[in-house]
Amino acid sequence: MSRGLLVAFDGVDGAGKTTQAERLAAALKRDGRRVRVLREPGGTALGEQLRAVLLAADGQADEPLVQACLFMASRRQLVVEAIRPALAQGDTVFLDRSFLSTWVYQGVVGGVELELLEALARAAHGDAWPDQVLLLDLSAEEADGRRAGRGAADDSFEARGFDYLEHIAQAYRDMAARLPELVTSIPAGGDPDDVAARCRAAFDEVAAR
Ligand code: TYD
Repeated sequence: MSRGLLVAFDGVDGAGKTTQAERLAAALKRDGRRVRVLREPGGTALGEQLRAVLLAADGQADEPLVQACLFMASRRQLVVEAIRPALAQGDTVFLDRSFLSTWVYQGVVGGVELELLEALARAAHGDAWPDQVLLLDLSAEEADGRRAGRGAADDSFEARGFDYLEHIAQAYRDMAARLPELVTSIPAGGDPDDVAARCRAAFDEVAAR
C-alpha cells in the first residue's frame, strides 16, 4: 500500500488553519478518502500536557530554546504515535500547525538558530516529512481583527501584542519565499469559501504528484 499524504496548515493565529483543515478533511471524506486532522502542539497524551505548559500565561516556558525543545518533543511524539501509523495505512494526515511554526516563532522571531531547528524538525519527522505546507497568509491587521472577534482568552503567544503578530506574519512570508517547493502560500483573507477552494486546489496538486 502506498504511503498516505502528509499536509500541514500553518500561519498566524486567526488565519483559519483549523477551519480550513477541517473543511478540506470533510470534503475529502465525502469523496471517500480517509483523512485525519492532528494538532500541534498536542494530539497525544504527552503532547497535550506539553501544550498546557507551553500555552500557560505563567511564564514557565518563556525562553525560546526551551519552547523549541518542548514543541519538537510534542511533534516527535505525534509522529511516533499517530502520524507514522496513519501514513502507513495509506491515510491522509492534516497537521494544524507544524515545524514551520517553530522555525518562525522560536527561530526567526525568537532567535534560536535555524540550522538547529531544521535538524530537530528532520529528526522529529524521520521518514514522515510533510509533502507540503499550506501557509494561510493573512495580514497582521486582519488576523488581529478576527482574533478580537473570536472573544477567546489570549494564550501566552497571543498576549504579546500587535507588533509581535506583525513580525510573525512577515517571518512566515519570508520563510515561504525561502522554501518555495515545500511551502504553498494561500491568500487567507476574504470569503472563507474562496480560501477553501484555494486549499482544495493546492491539495489536488499535491495529490496528483
Ligand atoms: P495554536 O494551536 O494555533 O493555538 P489555538 O488553539 O489558539 O489555535 O497554537 C498555540 C500557539 O503556539 C500559537 O500562538 C503559536 C505557538 N507555537 C509556537 O510558538 N511554536 C510552535 O512550534 C507551535 C506548533 C506553536
